[in-house]
Amino acid sequence: MAFLHTFIVLFLSALGSDATVFRLKNNCNETIWPGILSGSGKPQLNNGGLKLNPKENATIKAPKGWSGRIWPRTGCTFDAQHRGNCTTGDCGLREQCNGTGGEPPVSLAEFTLDSPMDFYDVSLVDGFNIPVSIIPSGGKGNCSEVKCVNDLNLHCPVELQVRSSNGRRNNTIVACKNPCIAFRKPEYCCSGAFNNPNICKPSNYSIVFKRSCPRAYSYPYDDLTSTFTCKGANYDILFC
Ligand SMILES: *[C@@H]1O[C@H](CO)[C@@H](O)[C@H](O)[C@H]1NC(C)=O
Ligand SMILES: *[C@@H]1O[C@H](CO)[C@@H](O)[C@H](O)[C@H]1NC(C)=O
Ligand SMILES: *[C@@H]1O[C@H](CO)[C@@H](O)[C@H](O)[C@H]1NC(C)=O
Ligand SMILES: *[C@@H]1O[C@H](CO)[C@@H](O)[C@H](O)[C@H]1NC(C)=O
Ligand SMILES: *[C@@H]1O[C@H](CO)[C@@H](O)[C@H](O)[C@H]1NC(C)=O
Ligand SMILES: *[C@@H]1O[C@H](CO)[C@@H](O)[C@H](O)[C@H]1NC(C)=O
Ligand SMILES: *[C@@H]1O[C@H](CO)[C@@H](O)[C@H](O)[C@H]1NC(C)=O
Repeated sequence: MAFLHTFIVLFLSALGSDATVFRLKNNCNETIWPGILSGSGKPQLNNGGLKLNPKENATIKAPKGWSGRIWPRTGCTFDAQHRGNCTTGDCGLREQCNGTGGEPPVSLAEFTLDSPMDFYDVSLVDGFNIPVSIIPSGGKGNCSEVKCVNDLNLHCPVELQVRSSNGRRNNTIVACKNPCIAFRKPEYCCSGAFNNPNICKPSNYSIVFKRSCPRAYSYPYDDLTSTFTCKGANYDILFC
């Protein structure tokens, strides 16, 4: 009987009763291709990529204890063999990233599930391409919404702007670099002598990011206003 009980429990958990559901929704006017990169040792979800037409949504299940990041890719062209590239967030000539991260600058939704709560955040530490929000539902705890709906590209300082070099949106601003990646300076990256939360403070650049997306990470030690927790929730991840 104990064996049968164990078998049923294993069977039910394999069915996904413990899974967290991510619903990805594209509120943008353009098609986007979300990329998904799992944390070390965690299974890749959906082979790491999918396509979402405007207003379309997709449901993805993450197993208990999953961690990883989800980011939007824009301006992609893929052929019938699913090979091609993207203007922003590219993961190396393919539609399904399957273990490869997105090329910055790119906005990130980050999750560490069941540790023992779910930790989640929106991060602009790799820069910004399009707005990303996380809306929890049905969980216990603080479960704050992380809304980032402003187009930071409209407020991006000239020295951080990334312009498209082809396509319908040629020469328009498609992304905004994080100052750490643009200038590689310890005070922006919180590295070297600045690898300390009491020393690495918001910069004149990070406040531009914070103003546009107040609940998102604008620099590496932005934890106090940018990390959120919830337990047993499902999550809507909204693009734009
Ligand atoms: C979508 O397009 C409409 C009409 O062109 C525009 O008013 C709106 O701001 C656009 N929305 C986004 C998220 O780009
Ligand atoms: C998600 O898409 C389905 C159709 O694929 C639709 O019925 C549903 O209303 C959509 N949900 C949201 C939140 O947009
Ligand atoms: C990206 O794709 C475009 C269109 O298919 C192609 O012209 C370009 O050479 C590709 N770029 C790279 C780096 O492969
Ligand atoms: C994903 O990557 C794994 C490990 O490198 C490989 O075994 C698998 O075939 C890949 N799947 C796809 C769809 O590319
Ligand atoms: C939950 O939110 C409240 C009010 O925002 C805050 O005082 C409290 O510290 C938070 N608790 C946790 C566990 O984050
Ligand atoms: C993109 O725009 C730039 C600047 O206006 C122009 O020099 C370039 O030829 C354009 N490229 C394409 C592929 O249209
Ligand atoms: C930020 O400060 C640096 C160094 O003091 C200066 O060169 C840069 O122009 C400033 N940028 C903005 C957007 O204020």
